[in-house]
Amino acid sequence: MTDSHDRHSLPVFGGSSPVEDDLKTESTWGASTRCVWAGEVPAPPAGATVLPVFLGVTFAHDDLDEWRAVGLGERPGYIYSRTSNPTVELFERKVAALEGAESAVAFASGMAAISGTMYALLEPGSRVVSIRDTYGGTNRLFAQYLPHWDVEVALRETSDHEAIEAAIDDGCDLLHLESPTNPTLKVLDLRRLAARAHEVGAVVVVDNTFATPINQRPLELGADLVIHSATKFLGGHSDALGGVVAGSKDEISEIFAYREIHGASMNPHAAFLLARGLKTLELRVQRQNDNAMAVASFLAEHPAVESVFYPGLPTHPLHDVAAAQMSGFGGVLSFILRGESNRVRQFLDSLRLAHKAASLGSVSTLVGPPATTSHVELSPRQLAAAGIPESLIRYAVGIENADDLIADLSVALEGLEPA
Ligand SMILES: Cc1ncc(COP(=O)(O)O)c(C=O)c1O
Repeated sequence: MTDSHDRHSLPVFGGSSPVEDDLKTESTWGASTRCVWAGEVPAPPAGATVLPVFLGVTFAHDDLDEWRAVGLGERPGYIYSRTSNPTVELFERKVAALEGAESAVAFASGMAAISGTMYALLEPGSRVVSIRDTYGGTNRLFAQYLPHWDVEVALRETSDHEAIEAAIDDGCDLLHLESPTNPTLKVLDLRRLAARAHEVGAVVVVDNTFATPINQRPLELGADLVIHSATKFLGGHSDALGGVVAGSKDEISEIFAYREIHGASMNPHAAFLLARGLKTLELRVQRQNDNAMAVASFLAEHPAVESVFYPGLPTHPLHDVAAAQMSGFGGVLSFILRGESNRVRQFLDSLRLAHKAASLGSVSTLVGPPATTSHVELSPRQLAAAGIPESLIRYAVGIENADDLIADLSVALEGLEPA
């Protein structure tokens, strides 16, 4: 077990520098400089300018003393890739730098990161407070699995900050938040809720998948841990699954120790793709922010559209909170078509520049109706209770040109049968 040593110690290649010094330097860089340079090892083999995929599962040692010292965490190094791997660590270091965290630990998927965090930090009798609109997988964890381990979960209406605060006051070991939420882009005041949770000694976890560290940095708003489905914007190309948690060295060490035993470590090949994707994160996200804003503004004016959900629109109920805690409003929006829900099918079939597919944060636009995708298991009544009408469409913009996306949407809307 190696849970006591510094998580990221750049041990393998010559010229390694202490992580704390690196973190200090990296914190002075702009986002894209961090994306490109953070965590890069000083001297990869053969002068490579891109760290290779370290597919080897096991790492050799010069002698038993060194091997033992690495095993005890007294010396930097690697033993076995379920515990740590240089390519995975590169990805972890970049995310830590982007979120302004001391450390980060990567998992096989976003769900592995979320459940790994919960199982590492909670124990029977713990109480979690969260919101109704978490990602569906997280919601299942709350509804089905955590109660099985005698963890109480209190879920409150997402738009009701007073109700969330009251639930925190009733006892809270871990507050789990998402903002903006899926699929109706609700916004939570992260600073306000984190402060309240800290009054009762809770750990505050924020799933920052929708916002990305380019648009929102929860640790600066008071969160203790920030989680991503790296599968989405961080990787950005829909070709690698991954998850990551960033935070203080102590908390990440605990989660790291659990990951070693739970076994849901990130695959080095995925880490390579995700670290490569990260290098263009700021460029992609800025483009996606612009595209989503342009599309949301277009849809908000269109007579075939009943309503649009996007935190960047001044009509969003918590636009002011979003503007205060985000530097961009993200690449996901949703909207309701006027008229019967069967128009959704016709509309989606007419789009030329969008995959009808799950997920978000990719270079290509992804579109789908939550009622038949992420929320397919809900009955019409449950859908209505969750505020997800059958004609709600989630539109996750890619990096295409906004004019082309708008033209594509325009053709599909004009072609609809009259409502
Ligand atoms: C906000 C959010 N968190 C977590 C996840 C789970 O991530 P993964 O699919 O990588 O397990 C998703 C997936 O859609 C998500 O949207």
